[in-house]
Amino acid sequence: MCNWIVGNWKMNGSLAHVAEFTAALLKGIPANLGAAGTRVAICPPHPYLTAVGERIAGSQVELGAQKVHPLPSGAFTGEVSPVMLSEFGVSVCIIGHSEHRQYFGVTDVIIAQKLHALTAVGIIPILCVGETLVEREADRQKEVIETQLRLAMKDSEEDVRGRQVSDTVLAPHPELSEEAAGKLVIAYEPVWAIGTGQTATPEQANGMHEFIRDILRERYSESLAEAMPILYGGSVNEENAGELLRQPDINGALVGGASLKADAFLSIINQAIK
Ligand code: PGA
Repeated sequence: MCNWIVGNWKMNGSLAHVAEFTAALLKGIPANLGAAGTRVAICPPHPYLTAVGERIAGSQVELGAQKVHPLPSGAFTGEVSPVMLSEFGVSVCIIGHSEHRQYFGVTDVIIAQKLHALTAVGIIPILCVGETLVEREADRQKEVIETQLRLAMKDSEEDVRGRQVSDTVLAPHPELSEEAAGKLVIAYEPVWAIGTGQTATPEQANGMHEFIRDILRERYSESLAEAMPILYGGSVNEENAGELLRQPDINGALVGGASLKADAFLSIINQAIK
């Protein structure tokens, strides 16, 4: 299985930042990344995809997106389709991020649709799941994660057309095939740890990753569960990355704030390959 270090810039950056950051990243990126089985991607805001893509072309760094619409084209103002992302060389796309779930009402139905649409064009979805503080305090984290995962893995491509914006309970229909599920990356991101400086302890995070793997084992197969990269996200930085990444069930990190600084991001990458 490969490990991933993914930088999620969120709504940050500028053209000057792109130039500075990519120059420093490419200069410092370890040559043995591939040999160590680690993949690195950065997900800038959409307007900077071209600029980042041009600068990292031919390097070991991959281009990621933060957002996608499930349909190939249509009257959806402000949206970008999976096919368009492909044209710009995007190889991974974050979906189900808690900021989308919380602030823009992105539902499990829509997340399932995006998941199908991305795998159909060969973009790797990074499916984010995570519980809120209230849910964690009520000891409901496992129930929440299981529901998010199971709903995301339902739905079918045909379903996308009829229900782009609906939030109805999923009707019975074909589920995500094992072949498509095998193309996913999952990110466990407890909402209470995102941007708060508060991380899950390595044991807490690893325990949730084990739980996610158990669901995949039961839902699909032992081989799929074992091969699934499960990343941790939530205030990962150069200080706490090493211990988190040493956990047996943590296969990389989805990094927000610390991915904006090339030296911090490089330090996290270096700790992933040790
Ligand atoms: P953070 O963000 O590292 O700034 O907490 C992580 C994320 O939202 O993916």
